Amino acid sequence: MCGIAGYVGDKDAQGVLLKSLSRMEYRGYDSAGIAVIEDRRMFVAKKKGKLKVLADELCPNQIKGTTGIGHSRWATHGVPSDANAHPHCDCKGKIAVVHNGIIENYLELKSSLKREGHKFISETDTEVIAHLIEKFYSGDITEAVRKAIKLLHGSYAIAVIHKDEQGKIVGARLDSPLIVGLGKGENFIASDVPAILDYTHKVIYLDNNDVVTITKDSVAIQNITGRIIHRKPSVIKWNISQAEKCGYKHFMLKEIFEQGDVVEKIIDERIRDGRVEFDELKIKESDFRRIKNITIVACGTAYHAGLTGKYVIEEHAKIPCTVDTSSEFRYRNPVVTKDTLVIIVSQSGETADSLAALREAKRRGCVVLAICNVLGSSIAREANGVIYTHAGPEIAVASTKAYTAQLAIFYLVTFYIARIRKTVSPSGLKALIREFKKCAALMNELLGEYRSGYNMLAAYAQEFKKYYHLKHNKSYFLYLARNVNYPNALEGALKLKEISYISAEGYPAGEMKHGPIALIDENPWVVCIAVKSKTYDKMLSNIQEIKARGGIMIVIVTEGDKEIMHHNVNYVIEIPSVEELFSPLLVVIPLQLLAYYVALEFGYDIDQPRNLAKSVTVE
Ligand code: G6P
Repeated sequence: MCGIAGYVGDKDAQGVLLKSLSRMEYRGYDSAGIAVIEDRRMFVAKKKGKLKVLADELCPNQIKGTTGIGHSRWATHGVPSDANAHPHCDCKGKIAVVHNGIIENYLELKSSLKREGHKFISETDTEVIAHLIEKFYSGDITEAVRKAIKLLHGSYAIAVIHKDEQGKIVGARLDSPLIVGLGKGENFIASDVPAILDYTHKVIYLDNNDVVTITKDSVAIQNITGRIIHRKPSVIKWNISQAEKCGYKHFMLKEIFEQGDVVEKIIDERIRDGRVEFDELKIKESDFRRIKNITIVACGTAYHAGLTGKYVIEEHAKIPCTVDTSSEFRYRNPVVTKDTLVIIVSQSGETADSLAALREAKRRGCVVLAICNVLGSSIAREANGVIYTHAGPEIAVASTKAYTAQLAIFYLVTFYIARIRKTVSPSGLKALIREFKKCAALMNELLGEYRSGYNMLAAYAQEFKKYYHLKHNKSYFLYLARNVNYPNALEGALKLKEISYISAEGYPAGEMKHGPIALIDENPWVVCIAVKSKTYDKMLSNIQEIKARGGIMIVIVTEGDKEIMHHNVNYVIEIPSVEELFSPLLVVIPLQLLAYYVALEFGYDIDQPRNLAKSVTVE
């Protein structure tokens, strides 16, 4: 979603801000802007559209100042337009503000500010912040920000500058991430780590209610009441090349191809002497022994990983497990208690609904474990314990490697609990770990084949496009699977609709006769996951039923499957042979690639699909 950048130092702020904003493009945005102070004058430039439009606008008139803030906006209040783009200013154009989040009481604040004579020029909630700061300003911008934020309801990360206080940026946060980047003779403020990685790897993660004031050589943090706060800096271990395409056409493709290495790295880090170890996990073994049930809560792709987690946990850890989307969990009345382990899964660790679900679970006394990718993220910090996926930065909006990393962690968590609760014998656990390791190696083999050989998925995507036009754009996708691959059917469908805007639904194949079969004629392409499993024969029956009604079929089977040849399906994709429980790690690869190549065929913006954001930090 929106991105914040801020710079104070000796460099041209404009250049730094544009670079930082470009590093956050992946988050999804519809307009961008910067405000820079030059010779105690405030220059603001903002444009609807991509960053390039803003850069072109600025090109002939480079602003020279060395203090500035920037923003990429994903519209919530007010259409994408130049006027609604950030930064927003006060009546006299002395103060500039950029903001991520939503100010829920902005209408009320706006009316009272208007009554006091403030003039508004945008439809945004953010503009009230600028006017509130103006109202409270009496020579000290930090003080004015502190007073203003006391009146805000909702969520925010803000960066603020005042033209009379050149060389100073004030930031504040509540339920929206904000970090300070520490440089030599320069400092940064940002909503997102990649924004500052070109300049520094040393960061301070700000906490809720922190107010920070940075100059080129100082960082001072206080809380909302003015008390001085000390926060330890952390060092980011990613390097910027991990956030670059490295020769791939898209981040999504690069990230798909990284998946084998990501899972192998997870295994290397977490399995020692044949035993699963989670160094950073602060939850005691006795908690895992006493819990009576597990509830997994997440959004989007992470939710699908959670669904797979349920199959794996129930199979081997033998603990009843439910899975919920965060937005439902947080507003219903979930029956979770101190005997419930709640697992929040989130790549970014900042998804607003997942964070709220975490707090709800804690309020109800549950033990909360987070599975996160982004170090130091809010969910990681607020949970009782965290397991990091260490998948490296995921830039494409459509999540791929974070998904397989989350699956890998679910296997390991299951082995870990199974050992503690003795639900699997030591030799049984050894066999499971062996098969899991084999699966990770097979992921790399499969990816290697797709990378170097003839890519049949690209060819299927071409065929689909032709068919789509032949059928007057009425063609769409259905994904069917059973058991532990059912969540993959949902994930395959999600990937396709996210980036190719073609209708796609996933179903448990056994539900076909309860509705979806009514859709089958010659229009849909049906992707059936029919790998070696205890429900293989059932899948073959589903395949027959679809074939009999004219659906075009892509079937994913296990290498060496001879049976499928007798079923006259249109396309067959093979994955290497592995135990059914681990097959989701392999099956998802062709599903992701199919989505990728379909979107490529249609010429869409794969890494930044329309309307979507990488990290949904507002409700
Ligand atoms: C957004 C992203 C998805 C992601 C979901 C949950 O919708 O576009 O790719 O799966 O949020 O995000 P999280 O960071 O909590 O895993």
